[in-house]
Amino acid sequence: MRVFSGIRPTGELHIGNYLGSVYQWIKLQDLHECFFGIMDYHAITTPFEPEKMEKNILDTLIVYLAAGLNPKKCTIFVQSHVKEHIELAWILGTITPLGELKRMTQFKEKAKKHPEYVNAGLLNYPLLMASDILLYKTDLVPVGKDQIQHVELTREIARRFNKMFGVVFKEPKVLLSEGEKIMSLQNPKKKMSKTDDPKGCILLFDEPEEIEKKIMRAVTDLGKEIKYDPVKKPGISNLLKIYSIFSEKSIKELEEKYKGKGYEQFKRDLTKLLIKKLEVFRKKKKELEKREVYLKEILKKGAEKAEKVAKLTMKEVREKMGLEI
Ligand code: TYM
Repeated sequence: MRVFSGIRPTGELHIGNYLGSVYQWIKLQDLHECFFGIMDYHAITTPFEPEKMEKNILDTLIVYLAAGLNPKKCTIFVQSHVKEHIELAWILGTITPLGELKRMTQFKEKAKKHPEYVNAGLLNYPLLMASDILLYKTDLVPVGKDQIQHVELTREIARRFNKMFGVVFKEPKVLLSEGEKIMSLQNPKKKMSKTDDPKGCILLFDEPEEIEKKIMRAVTDLGKEIKYDPVKKPGISNLLKIYSIFSEKSIKELEEKYKGKGYEQFKRDLTKLLIKKLEVFRKKKKELEKREVYLKEILKKGAEKAEKVAKLTMKEVREKMGLEI
């Protein structure tokens, strides 16, 4: 099976990005043919700093490598290096009704957040994402919960194209992980997001002191019982979920372990665990930051591999549409 996923290089990635997506990619690279992109053309739909883009792209690659992706087992590349992504996105735009793009939740949320920056690229974001996925005839898309709607639209677009011009695309399925929606530590009713709420966010490159500060200040709930109940105890339930995935212990086991102990002890242990588990990211960053040539070589080879597949699909698309002369 083919797998495709990606992350926008918007600066520092957080544990929500990691647990919701990259974490589950690691197992997939041993089972399937995987493509993992660094989605720079998606990152420019919201305000960004051009002078930081290259660093952000390389930092995203460092996260992929620190998490355990192996460029020999999967294809890692930068979206803009494979021009077919844009070419197919244009074509998909010509068969997608405007209304379908306007009703996307992410578009509405981002447009509200940056009213001065509602560009056509933001509206067309799902077309480019559909193109990313369909170009590789993807079967599985491992992403967080917030991306389900975009993958559903991708399925709809694939069906429509196949019906109008003949079968080229597969209808991809979403693959969710346990960490499908990690909430903000400051507002556990909202998803963890660097841009919305930096203090509620643990970054993968955070130093131990920052991790400690953020966990110890994380919002908890009334009472002092360590119990998983996302409705009544959203704060502690979110922390329990993070603890459970990083420790590979079930939530039940953790509830048992912390019976009769207070939030303070629980938070201290979670802090210790996160400092240890995120050490690999801090270490790899220090080690790989200086090896720019090596990092760029991975991206170059990745783009070459991705381009081969993308070109074949584009040829089929153009033939079906009568554009290959
Ligand atoms: P991005 O960069 O916003 O998010 C990257 C991944 O992280 C997941 N995620 C979360 N998961 C759990 N809890 C959270 N709080 C949390 N915040 C973010 C997202 O669901 C995503 O999986 N549009 C995509 C990038 C993309 C893409 C693609 C993905 C572009 N083309 C094609 C798959 C296939 C995005 O939102 O990235």
